Amino acid sequence: MKFFLDTADLDEIREAASWGVLSGVTTNPSLYARIGGKLADFPAHIQQICALVTGPISAEATGEGRADLIAQGRDLAKLAPNVVVKVPTTVEGLAATRVLADEGINVNMTLCFSVPQALLAARAGARYISPFVGRFDDISEDGIAALTDVVGALENYDFGHPVEIIAASLRSANHVTQAALIGADIATVPFGVLKKLVAHPLTDRGLKAFEADWQKVIDAQ
Ligand code: G3P
Repeated sequence: MKFFLDTADLDEIREAASWGVLSGVTTNPSLYARIGGKLADFPAHIQQICALVTGPISAEATGEGRADLIAQGRDLAKLAPNVVVKVPTTVEGLAATRVLADEGINVNMTLCFSVPQALLAARAGARYISPFVGRFDDISEDGIAALTDVVGALENYDFGHPVEIIAASLRSANHVTQAALIGADIATVPFGVLKKLVAHPLTDRGLKAFEADWQKVIDAQ
């Protein structure tokens, strides 16, 4: 499983990249708004992220109709070679994805909540598909079960082009564990969740024991 950071925060991206584990970044309008992003700065901001991380960087197209999505997607794709255009899983999004994919632009179909949506996204040429997990949990449904269905269904077919599943809307280390056991290709996580992935109380306890024992070695000199 590859790890993407789900954020628009440059400091978080720099820090996670320094850990040597980051394979990409996903952003969306909410994440950009959360850092106080200005519309005029958006293209330059995406370019900064693309310069920090060599993997795929998802930037969202936000028009309602396919013409807007296609036009924005083309503009976003010009920002850097590693830009992936994020498009919603809707009729207009499918139509836009087909056009962009035929032009060689990588698309991440987002807001995917079902097997049929994922199959359609793959058929439309999406390079990445993002099933959301946590949003199901928000409405007391089982997001991991939904992700399991999507991963299992897509494994049954060859779409004639590479398709990777980005487990998205992950809120906990357990979500990441379950996504890995299912075989999701990528987990995109907020920085807070990434920090939790590296932490374990037994690691801390073991470290303290090593430090104490090493001090005994030093004291014995
Ligand atoms: O990548 C999708 C993600 O940003 C959505 O997460 O927590 O808003 O459901 P969340």
